[in-house]
Amino acid sequence: MSATNVAGSVGGSQGGHKRAVGRVLEPFFLGVPQRALARAGAVTEKYRAEQAEKASTGQTRPVREDRLRAAMVRALLAGQRIRTSEVERAFRTVPRHLFLPDEPVERAYQDEAVLTKWVDGIAVSSASQPSMMAIMLEQLALRPGHRVLEIGAGTGYNAALMAEIVGPTGKVVAVDIDRDLVDGAARHLAAAGSPDVVLVTGDGAVGVPELAPYDRIVLTVGSWDIQAAWWEQLAPGGRLLLPLSIRGSQLSVALDLIDGDVRCLLSDSMRSCAFVRLRGRGADPEGSRPLADGLSVHAVDSHELDLEHLAALLAEPGAERISAVRLAAVDLWDGFGLWLSLHAPDMCRLLVSPDASGWWPSLLPPGADGGTLLLFGDRGLAMVAPTRSPEVPLDTVFPVAVRAYGPEGPEVAQRLDQLLDAWAGAGRPTATGLRLRAYPSGVTVPSGPEAVLRKAHSQLVLDWPGNPVPDGLILDG
Ligand SMILES: C[S@@+](CC[C@H](N)C(=O)[O-])C[C@H]1O[C@@H](n2cnc3c(N)ncnc32)[C@H](O)[C@@H]1O
Repeated sequence: MSATNVAGSVGGSQGGHKRAVGRVLEPFFLGVPQRALARAGAVTEKYRAEQAEKASTGQTRPVREDRLRAAMVRALLAGQRIRTSEVERAFRTVPRHLFLPDEPVERAYQDEAVLTKWVDGIAVSSASQPSMMAIMLEQLALRPGHRVLEIGAGTGYNAALMAEIVGPTGKVVAVDIDRDLVDGAARHLAAAGSPDVVLVTGDGAVGVPELAPYDRIVLTVGSWDIQAAWWEQLAPGGRLLLPLSIRGSQLSVALDLIDGDVRCLLSDSMRSCAFVRLRGRGADPEGSRPLADGLSVHAVDSHELDLEHLAALLAEPGAERISAVRLAAVDLWDGFGLWLSLHAPDMCRLLVSPDASGWWPSLLPPGADGGTLLLFGDRGLAMVAPTRSPEVPLDTVFPVAVRAYGPEGPEVAQRLDQLLDAWAGAGRPTATGLRLRAYPSGVTVPSGPEAVLRKAHSQLVLDWPGNPVPDGLILDG
């Protein structure tokens, strides 16, 4: 097996796993209007003509793409996405439009994700949103001379940004599971003048052992678990940064390797995020299953849910009570949604698509954030029933009701109400304040007033400092 800086192959399997892109609160992963793709060719031609003119006249005045890039960097600084001069210099230097050659130059410098590959109608690759990339590069804390492994090379843009920061004494290795994407990344990197990035075709779940160890390993693709290979390929004191699934919420977690009697990864920072999911052998068991027209249910292991029973309960709404706690749409995945997932084993999410018909839309206003949270017991369930209309911005709070369904619905509703109160009483904590320790599976984890999430290859111990989980809680997934 060999790595190459063109598009060689390092084994790995091509995952046939299909996964719907998470659809709610996905500010970092939005769809591309087809008409934008149609415009792309014409604009690219115009760009090429401008480049030719620039070369022939030897002009030094900033051309359109330079001005657009400068404006993007200004916006990332103003929004405090970029916080350090190293990350700022990388964004100023690397031309994003060369990594999206089929897109209009203007689009390349907008703060949005651009989908680049679909399989069976499901997006499997994208150029991530610059805001999210800046947040993650700050979390990664790269230094000149660092050796970095990126899992999810995609267009190669992030690899080029990192190469700019680690400089000639460092090394960037970027792996993608799809050969065609690696070929594209090689072309883009050559065009952008970053030929030293080592590109590998393979399954990032096994890392790239030939070139280990790495001071930093970063995934730019969502993962359900922490694979053993990533622990093994981290250098002492190294940092792993990955979009990690915490019972359906995806968090960008920076974890530092702590060597002791028991090897452990300790979180340095966490941010809410939304990435396409890992394919291949690291593909996760989470997912959503259709429940009714335009309605699906998302749970850690949705295959274990009795969907018929759930649908039957939902058909008979019982009493509801307006909660004293108001929620924003972002609280579905972060905030209360995250709190609920770490305090209630029976939590799941209902998702409603914009084209839903029947009575669901009136229950759960559809749109980019359509959906809600529920607790699902054997003989009853309770739902957070939003009273929000789709026009309300994602971060604006609105009143919610807690609605009971089924014979034991009122008891479940009472528990949901208490959890809402507890979250509000704890100061409405979000992902940003969450703390995580990760251990390999199989080792004995010190027990405490925390939630322990058991995955296939790791165990995650989670808490909000100052807000203990009473009696601890062991959860699967
Ligand atoms: C959001 S894109 C990455 C964007 C990229 N960093 C950039 O700057 O353009 C996620 C990428 O992860 C890749 N991917 C998915 N599963 C993978 C796996 N098991 N190993 C390596 N790459 C994988 C996808 O093919 C996709 O290109």
